[in-house]
Amino acid sequence: MTSPLLDHSPASLPARSYRDAGWHEGELAAVWRQEWVAVGRRTDFPERTIRRRTIGGAEVIVVNDGKVLRAFHNVCRHRGSELCTADTPLGRLISCPYHAWAYAPDGRLMSTAFGTATPDFDRTEHGLLPVHLKIWNDVVFLSAAEEAPEFQTDVGTRTLANWPMESLRTGHRHEAIIQCNWKVFWENYSECLHCPGIHPGLSDMIPVYKLGVMAEAERSDGGAALPALKEGAMTWTEDGQPCGPPFPGLTEAERAEGHRFVTIWPSAYVVAHVDYVRLVRLEPLSPTETRLTAEWLFPEETLAQPGFDASAVARFATQVLNEDAAACEMNQRGLASPAFAAGRLMPQEYEIHAFHQWVLKRLARGGHAP
Ligand code: FES
Ligand code: FE
Repeated sequence: MTSPLLDHSPASLPARSYRDAGWHEGELAAVWRQEWVAVGRRTDFPERTIRRRTIGGAEVIVVNDGKVLRAFHNVCRHRGSELCTADTPLGRLISCPYHAWAYAPDGRLMSTAFGTATPDFDRTEHGLLPVHLKIWNDVVFLSAAEEAPEFQTDVGTRTLANWPMESLRTGHRHEAIIQCNWKVFWENYSECLHCPGIHPGLSDMIPVYKLGVMAEAERSDGGAALPALKEGAMTWTEDGQPCGPPFPGLTEAERAEGHRFVTIWPSAYVVAHVDYVRLVRLEPLSPTETRLTAEWLFPEETLAQPGFDASAVARFATQVLNEDAAACEMNQRGLASPAFAAGRLMPQEYEIHAFHQWVLKRLARGGHAP
């Protein structure tokens, strides 16, 4: 097993990158408006509806015409009015509330209403401005980049192939506004040095976490391999027991894993268990505020079990999310200190280092180099 640990202690990002409005604007433009950003599951965009979303500060609409999902910037091509002021059912056309220019659900401009078009005005050049849309494992992703970037996760795009993602239903949802920069959230997510101190319950469930590492490959203590989950546990529930029938398509190895993390920077991660799946999405609200939306996805037959309580299943991971949120907020409060310029990373924080490089590369590419 090759150790992923760093052989040096690189500097962390400068403290101002976690609080500075200008730096944040650069990240919205170079990261959040370029990359694929998760905005919900397919069922959040029902047939014949228009739903509003924000990606990297850009207001967009997602239009479901009954066949296809499409996304556009929420701006009218006439004089730039906001086009949809609320989530609405989709009529025959999408009409601007200001002077009634009307667009087809596929974005074509169909009418300029009372405005009389002159010969130099070409309607076909004034359709709605498109936003790229992609559905991956039933999660809807948008990219406001001119050219859509390649869709990537940290472990490939086929990694959930044996989980029936399309047929799962959301049984529980947890939303929180965390008083921290979005990068602080990912940094916390990317290391387990904090696990023994911050997550006693989780560290009890996942023995390797007690050592302050995320996986066997990171260990340097030379001890015997530890089980993925504590003795007798199969999944992330309070008693470690599955909340319904395990997914039938999983391999033996997948069943033994206990959890499979898939990370899609900058906006989402999925944790697939033997019996349910958790989808967590992030949205940066300001340099120091991040909205977190977590959903617990179950097979219908699990939800249909008499007396099934999805919130009881969610309790274990919600506790972990809350512990992490409190740690992130504590981190953010410290980052406000005028005395702190930048930190240092430890070898176990290799994923944070990779994340920093990922962000810096995009800032440089977008001309927002610090
Ligand atoms: Fe939309 Fe005038 S701004 S019709
Ligand atoms: Fe944590």
